[in-house]
Amino acid sequence: MRRTMVAGNWKMHGTRASVAELIVGLRALSLPTGVDVAVFPPSLYIGQVIDGLQGLPVAVGAQNAAVQSKQGALTGELASTQLQDAGCTLVLVGHSERRQIIGETDAALIAKFTAAQEGGLTPVLCVGETLEEREAGKTLEVVGHQLGSVIEALGIKAFVNAVIAYEPVWAIGTGLTATPQQAQDVHAAIRAQLQAEDADVAQAVRLLYGGSVKAANAVELFGMPDIDGGLIGGASLNADEFGAICRAAGN
Ligand code: 13P
Repeated sequence: MRRTMVAGNWKMHGTRASVAELIVGLRALSLPTGVDVAVFPPSLYIGQVIDGLQGLPVAVGAQNAAVQSKQGALTGELASTQLQDAGCTLVLVGHSERRQIIGETDAALIAKFTAAQEGGLTPVLCVGETLEEREAGKTLEVVGHQLGSVIEALGIKAFVNAVIAYEPVWAIGTGLTATPQQAQDVHAAIRAQLQAEDADVAQAVRLLYGGSVKAANAVELFGMPDIDGGLIGGASLNADEFGAICRAAGN
């Protein structure tokens, strides 16, 4: 049985004051047991969030980590071992904003995925197609390639300790959500791709959906057989909304 997971990606949002407010809001939530809850604050506020959430069953992750796990001469980057030392347990890898805006390549994110695991973090590998790719009927090909390049480089066992998030680019921050069936179709294809390599890994790995998830659409999405929770952007900046999404995953 896979435990559902709800993770909030705060992206490049927040100030010390707003993060403090969000911590107060998160502390006031009644979170469901049986759901793994996590937040990914901007790196600058990771320490503040870890201190602020002490005692709460909420994991903290980073939105990015370096291509190497150990400290070194790599200006502006954070090593997975440093993030682990700070109290992080998870890290996002290959978010579409980093692929598209920063120009992160498959090679870079494969290195980051490996470095994350070497440093004791669980990578959350993000995949997803653009609107153009969906309209051209290429969704499964694109997502299959994104996942396949990591499987090919690192082997299927790399997914024993990993989470996969399917985030259609056209649904991120747009208010357009994939329908539960559209999301399920891609999740089923991802699981089938894993299954072709290793049935146990395929059954155990959690597949999160991300893209304009709100409390109002979460129950239906999370009700699909291959959707094991969500990676939440905008709605995770509101503690009450985020709490409602976590409870939807607990149903
Ligand atoms: P939104 O929930 O704001 O669409 O963002 C999704 C996302 O990119 C989470 O990583």
